[in-house]
Amino acid sequence: MDRIRVVGGRPLNGQIAISGAKNAALPLLAATLLTGDKISFTNMPGLADIKTMSALLEQHGAEVEREGDFLSVKAEEIPNTVAPYDLVRRMRASILVLGPLLARFGNAVVSLPGGCAIGTRPVDLHLKGLEALGAKIELGRGYIHASAEGGLIGGEIDFPVVSVGATENLLMAAALAKGESKLVNAAREPEIVDLANLLVAMGAQIEGIGTDVLTVQGVDQLHGAEHSVVADRIEAGTYAIAAAITRGEIELTKVDPTLFDSLLDLMEKAGVVVDRGTDSVKISCGEMDLVGADAITDPYPGFPTDLQAQYMALMCTAKGAAMVTETIFENRYMHVPELSRMGADINVHGASAMVRGVDILYGAEVMATDLRASSSLVLAGLAAEGETLVNRVYHLDRGYERLEEKLAACGAEIARVPEE
Ligand code: UD1
Repeated sequence: MDRIRVVGGRPLNGQIAISGAKNAALPLLAATLLTGDKISFTNMPGLADIKTMSALLEQHGAEVEREGDFLSVKAEEIPNTVAPYDLVRRMRASILVLGPLLARFGNAVVSLPGGCAIGTRPVDLHLKGLEALGAKIELGRGYIHASAEGGLIGGEIDFPVVSVGATENLLMAAALAKGESKLVNAAREPEIVDLANLLVAMGAQIEGIGTDVLTVQGVDQLHGAEHSVVADRIEAGTYAIAAAITRGEIELTKVDPTLFDSLLDLMEKAGVVVDRGTDSVKISCGEMDLVGADAITDPYPGFPTDLQAQYMALMCTAKGAAMVTETIFENRYMHVPELSRMGADINVHGASAMVRGVDILYGAEVMATDLRASSSLVLAGLAAEGETLVNRVYHLDRGYERLEEKLAACGAEIARVPEE
């Protein structure tokens, strides 16, 4: 299995173009099951998760074509409404085909995603929501069996906690349900706005896009559309931190900085210089060294849990202490022991971690446990003295397009190496 080798200590300098967002692309691809017409995408990132979702759509019977950042799906004939364990276990977001399949065909069988390295991550909200739209749900032999004879019927769903995936699944289902549906306490992540925009382009009737109440008037049929995938705010945030952690200067292009304001605001508090444009942002470090700034993860527009690990790596290199609190997932501190092996001073107490800045991080051989934890180890490696080897690179390939290439173009000494 490949590893990433980083030799740290070089300030990064240059420009990085941000790719389309993985977390937008996955629900967008699931939405193609809502119509028999062709849906065409541009700015589709080249990631392992996109391949997995494409394979899932293909095994349902859809035709997927890909060239560069263009991808189209035509789900005209869908003879198979079963999402098998083998694909769902590889990627939890496979659960997003449940709503569209059920809404269009009146039945779907989807494997339960099971546990996940960053906590238990149940799917109860997805299932309760579909029941509120008239679906019959049965669980058996590790599978969700969902049916709605005569189709789904509009209803009101009041989410007890904000869930990105459940909001997406129900928004797609409601688009083809009979009558009006209301999603209350809905997630409002930019990826949900992107999905809603595609659905509207396909003929869906949705009000309240970008707010926490989505009202949907169901339609009988949806049609083909063209859509450009929104920029990946988590990728952008990761490279913004790469600039700061190496005390370098990077301009991020093809991304609206307001998508990740919560991180940029925190970085400014820590002493990073942020120069915002409309579709770009420049990150640099001023005269003063960075200082610790506390962060709490929250649903959008709060600070994203998907940037918590990377931000923690940055705080390891700041003066003083920073309290980082994770409110979305339990057990999302698996990067802490690995960062500690590189010389970080971090103490976890329940949902909070006290990060005390250290003068120096040391390169080490470390183990990536999940996608964002992996990128925090690469970031720490960029700042560390000597060589860092990050194992289990497949985690990174799920969510970062050409990571080594993008960082190397800014002067990083980074390469993919085969395991000895
Ligand atoms: C999505 C993102 C993931 C991100 C997360 C939170 C994708 C493909 N993934 O994951 O990168 O970290 O949002 O921003 O977009 N919950 C329940 N029951 C449910 C569903 C969720 O209790 O049925 C809980 C979860 O355990 C968690 C919280 O709700 O504590 C938020 O999870 P959710 O927003 O659903 O995350 P995902 O959609 O899985």
